[in-house]
Amino acid sequence: SRRRSLLKVILLGETTVGKTSLVNQFVHERFREESDSTLLADISSKELQIDDRHVTLQLWDTAGQERFRSLPPVFFRGADCVVLVYDVTNPSSFRSLDIWHRQFLETVNQLDPKKLPFVLVGNKADLDGQNRRKVSEDRARQWCAICGNIPYFETSAKDNQNVDDAFMHIAKIALAH
Ligand code: GTP
Repeated sequence: SRRRSLLKVILLGETTVGKTSLVNQFVHERFREESDSTLLADISSKELQIDDRHVTLQLWDTAGQERFRSLPPVFFRGADCVVLVYDVTNPSSFRSLDIWHRQFLETVNQLDPKKLPFVLVGNKADLDGQNRRKVSEDRARQWCAICGNIPYFETSAKDNQNVDDAFMHIAKIALAH
């Protein structure tokens, strides 16, 4: 039987890693060199077909700036998957993953004891070609292993590398949750 599902997915990560750009590329097929910093959060949706299911992927693109660091718990209510994003050229965005991860677990454990799936996305992979990468894929995968084998994707919102594939996997993970 065909059912329609709303899948709530939250994107978290330091400012400028490309959360908004990933959503814009996936939902609107566009990329801008000058992207405004998100205030609090924006919500975008895209209809997807996963096997015989119609689903609506609802993407919560949150603000990465320090002043928005502690999101109200209500943001996480009903979430089906959390996508942590860092920038492969920005080591501080990688180091801060622990903070995002921990803060999220603390917030969510108060709400819902059920374990939520995580995904890690390393964005700006297009800059690898210019030798600007600062975080190796191995290092990122090690972090994922330590955090309980969370799935890892490398993307470029700019060149539209692996963006659809990453979000399709994310939708499947959210659907299975
Ligand atoms: P906040 O809203 O402040 O949390 O930032 P954000 O994570 O949403 O970053 P945003 O999408 O606004 O992108 C920040 C900058 O990085 C912009 O100048 C984008 O054009 C650029 N950018 C985003 N994705 C990529 C990418 O894959 N490759 C390259 N080269 N630049 C990117």
